[in-house]
Amino acid sequence: MGKMCLKAKNKGLRSFYSAFFICSTVMALWSYALQLEAKVTGNCSNCHTMHNSQNGAHMQYLAPDESDTKPKQSLLRGSCLGCHSKTDGSAWKDPLTGAPIVFNSQQPSYNAVMGLSAGNFYWVQTEDTTGHNIFASNPESTLNEAPGKSWGCSGTNSCHENIHGTTGPPYFGFDTSRQGCTKCHMVGSDSPKGYHHLDDTGPVVDSSAEGWFRFLDGHKSGSGFGVAGIEDDDWQYSASATDHNEYLGASGTKTSAGGFSAIGENTMTAYCTGCHGNFHIEDDLTTGSPWIRHPSDLIIPNSDEYASAFGASGATGTYNPLVPVARPTLSGWTGPSGTVTLGTDLVMCLSCHRAHASPYFKMLRWDYKSWPGNGQPNGCNVCHTSKN
Ligand code: HEC
Ligand code: HEC
Ligand code: HEC
Ligand code: HEC
Ligand code: HEC
Ligand code: HEC
Repeated sequence: MGKMCLKAKNKGLRSFYSAFFICSTVMALWSYALQLEAKVTGNCSNCHTMHNSQNGAHMQYLAPDESDTKPKQSLLRGSCLGCHSKTDGSAWKDPLTGAPIVFNSQQPSYNAVMGLSAGNFYWVQTEDTTGHNIFASNPESTLNEAPGKSWGCSGTNSCHENIHGTTGPPYFGFDTSRQGCTKCHMVGSDSPKGYHHLDDTGPVVDSSAEGWFRFLDGHKSGSGFGVAGIEDDDWQYSASATDHNEYLGASGTKTSAGGFSAIGENTMTAYCTGCHGNFHIEDDLTTGSPWIRHPSDLIIPNSDEYASAFGASGATGTYNPLVPVARPTLSGWTGPSGTVTLGTDLVMCLSCHRAHASPYFKMLRWDYKSWPGNGQPNGCNVCHTSKN
């Protein structure tokens, strides 16, 4: 409560209200109108077990591919996937703990089979190219490193070579035993640090103290960095022009490999290019020709075919959660915006990809491979309005 009051004051609300009134008003606004994320709530025993034993039986929530009932780190009642998975296709949130579901072992029946914002690991069970292959029992069989890998970290369990890891199911593991989820989430040099208990009420989540956006903390070489954004309260189970996550972007040099330390900003693109570094080398200054790879964190121009992107006229279009854009700054933002401003907002990695997995080739957000001609909505022409 104390921390939130301080933050509320920092947002510059009128000073003649008493501190108490400011806090209650602001918190009510946040919880009803903006519905932002907060830290975990509920009985400790929903999530933790002191001895991993009750009436002699183990206390673990098991993921569909798991059989390991041993006690877990932080005295938890499950691995990452144990809490974040379901065996049916319709649950998007655990009714007891409130955990968002990232793996339904049956095809997700919600959000047009897509799952939550990051997508759903359902799809990599049968098709490697649809996502990041987190399952140790069913690893990626074609790629032996992150495409576009530009630096560092090699060896059997390197985060830059595979996601599954070989030391068990997607499970708790830090430092040398990272695997699955913890290759991407909670990579701060001081982790584990109780991310689930940090106060990420925001609205803008842009610091280590808040656990960064979705616990996307920096890497050892980029400590102090992480992803900045605004967290939608239901992880885009419901999404619309005005109800969605927000992401920071940064237009800057595109001639060097990416990553937090190279880009120097807390953007989603800097995060992805921590492993896919070369995909940030996007223009060729020696010839002056425009692009050698599709730009990310480039401002969408208000000219040519782009002038009508996102249905825009006069540089203002409508935000489309199928094709998210990044914003050059989130400073002072109190919630998501329903508009896209051409000449200001940026195309980024997640404009085209889901972060976990999708039904489509290369974890795209729509069926690009068989477009045009498949009669499906296509995100490319949301920006490239004259190509279809
Ligand atoms: C005991 C159950 C449990 C375990 C184990 C668990 N989580 Fe969670 N997780 C939750 C709950 C509950 C939430 C929702 C918290 C909230 O609403 O803020 C959550 C939220 C999250 C979020 C979203 C945070 C946000 O800002 O919305 C991420 C990312 C996440 N967990 C990753 C992980 C990873 C990675 C692991 C393994 C290292 C893990 N979780 C282990 C229960 C669990
Ligand atoms: C390749 C990196 C990567 C891996 C591996 C990964 N995540 Fe994520 N995760 C992300 C990113 C990036 C986001 C934010 C996506 C967005 O905003 O659309 C995210 C979002 C989430 C969320 C919030 C829900 C949502 O859909 O936005 C949860 C919960 C979560 N991850 C849990 C997990 C768990 C559990 C695992 C392991 C089974 C895992 N993640 C593996 C990168 C990863
Ligand atoms: C909804 C699930 C959930 C509930 C409820 C919950 N925790 Fe946790 N807790 C977690 C998860 C998940 C982690 C470890 C992952 C991480 O670092 O975020 C954790 C980590 C911890 C840690 C170790 C990290 C640290 O901050 O030192 C302690 C201690 C802890 N919890 C105590 C508690 C207590 C006490 C309660 C009840 C007041 C409680 N937890 C309620 C999910 C929960
Ligand atoms: C921790 C390192 C890491 C991060 C961070 C990361 N990736 Fe990956 N990515 C990999 C590895 C390793 C592979 C190859 C193995 C696999 O597909 O599981 C891969 C594969 C991919 C693929 C091809 C999938 C396939 O199987 O053909 C795409 C597309 C992709 N990543 C996009 C992204 C995007 C977008 C982000 C940011 C949201 C991101 N990656 C963040 C390591 C990472
Ligand atoms: C304009 C849409 C778009 C953007 C933006 C985009 N990608 Fe892609 N990406 C694609 C498409 C389409 C493919 C499928 C292969 C192809 O056509 O090149 C792909 C393929 C990939 C692959 C797989 C490569 C392989 O060898 O299998 C990775 C990894 C990847 N993208 C990562 C990223 C990262 C990281 C970013 C941000 C720096 C990013 N993408 C931005 C559309 C995009
Ligand atoms: C969110 C907006 C956005 C989306 C979605 C998008 N693009 Fe782009 N694209 C851009 C921008 C901005 C440029 C660079 C414009 C410039 O040169 O100023 C670009 C450049 C390109 C170029 C190079 C054009 C040149 O002048 O050299 C190609 C080709 C391209 N995109 C194809 C695609 C395809 C295929 C997809 C779908 C997989 C896609 N784009 C999705 C915004 C987008």
